[in-house]
Amino acid sequence: MHNTRLVCDNIYWIGASDRIVARFENMFPLNEGIAYNSYLILDEKTAVIDTVDNAVGGVFLENIEYLLQGRTLDYLVVNHMEPDHCANIRNVVLRYPDVKIVGNAKTFKFLEQFYDGISVDSYLLVKDKDILDLGSRKLSFHLAPMVHWPEVMVTYEEKNNVLFSSDAFGNFGALNGNIFSDEVEFNVNEFRRYYSNVIARFGSNVQALLKKIHALNPKIIAPLHGVVHVGSAVSSVLNLYHLWSTYQSECSGVVIAYASMYGNTAEVCQKLATYLAMRGVKDIQIFDVSHTHPSYIIEKVFKYSNLVVATPNYNTRLYFPMESFLSELAFLNIQNRKMCFITNMTWGGTALAQAKEIFSKNKNIEYIAEDFNIQSSMKENQISELTCFADAILESLKEK
Ligand SMILES: Cc1cc2nc3c(=O)[nH]c(=O)nc-3n(C[C@H](O)[C@H](O)[C@H](O)COP(=O)(O)O)c2cc1C
Ligand SMILES: [Fe+2]
Ligand SMILES: [Fe+2]
Repeated sequence: MHNTRLVCDNIYWIGASDRIVARFENMFPLNEGIAYNSYLILDEKTAVIDTVDNAVGGVFLENIEYLLQGRTLDYLVVNHMEPDHCANIRNVVLRYPDVKIVGNAKTFKFLEQFYDGISVDSYLLVKDKDILDLGSRKLSFHLAPMVHWPEVMVTYEEKNNVLFSSDAFGNFGALNGNIFSDEVEFNVNEFRRYYSNVIARFGSNVQALLKKIHALNPKIIAPLHGVVHVGSAVSSVLNLYHLWSTYQSECSGVVIAYASMYGNTAEVCQKLATYLAMRGVKDIQIFDVSHTHPSYIIEKVFKYSNLVVATPNYNTRLYFPMESFLSELAFLNIQNRKMCFITNMTWGGTALAQAKEIFSKNKNIEYIAEDFNIQSSMKENQISELTCFADAILESLKEK
């Protein structure tokens, strides 16, 4: 059954949500599902902006048919060639054989790699800033390479100032009838988890895109996942993307990520958190890397200024879940963070050196306290050392 909403002025949302899928990219847990957005513009010419994942192809195709009311589809704009958005291109072409597929050179390269049987005669090749006239309005195309794939572009509708932003400004979570940011309590934690895990590695590319977006000055940002940003949310999400793409924290605060098999390293972290709380630190975030999916810990590291890493030696090296969390965090290009380390050694190993080596290429990582080492378990005579460790963290929180 068709299920659409008007965005504005003959621009319709024709996407759908999937609450069955457990993980995004088969990796990131989805507790509230995911939305695949697509948009249809009715003008003298008709255009669809991106398609949807296979999981929701049925309703998407019904939506197009319902809104077109027998008209033909003139254009299918492909901003992104990842299968969660391009999986229905063939189905659209089969139903509307005269449709022109609008993309850049890389779009068509990937299209041919993923799918057979789409005629080159249907291609409408565009370059950066090219314009497509739909009648009463024009669309312009703006390349956004590596946000987060090479072929990505964004499409701007100039009459209503709508930016179709591809995966940028997307969010996890299904939509619940409410598709606009001013209709929901916006889940900024999930918005940050999406950015920090899916897009964060490409900060300089995001900066380049932000420059183009500021010149366009959109009033509405319509991404491929999550709510459509309207009103004051537009500047809010642009500001967040600026902070995150320059790897600045949003606020002072402490994330403590630990690995622990028998609880001794965990105990030190709990005690440290108590000392920090007694010193007035609020909203302390403790994570067990074996328990919490790294995407949630990475999200909090992108929010806060400080990270405490606590890890035992394991077969003389880093405990594997800690190694994979730290490696992913470093690969996502984390910068400008204040870090300190707690290690646990019963007989020896290089876990600490390995942890520091992982961040050796990340810019402006500051070690703000002496390493705190325990041998198997923390002892009474180490309390003053741990209070100094807490004091050093507190001092660093006061600096900007
Ligand atoms: C499989 C295994 C490998 C270990 N390898 C090391 C090691 O290489 N070096 C070391 O000092 N301790 C090693 N340990 C001992 C840990 O330091 C000890 O188990 C300690 O309790 C771990 O901290 P936790 O209590 O927070 O889990 C190892 C322990 C296990 C179970
Ligand atoms: Fe994508
Ligand atoms: Fe996507």
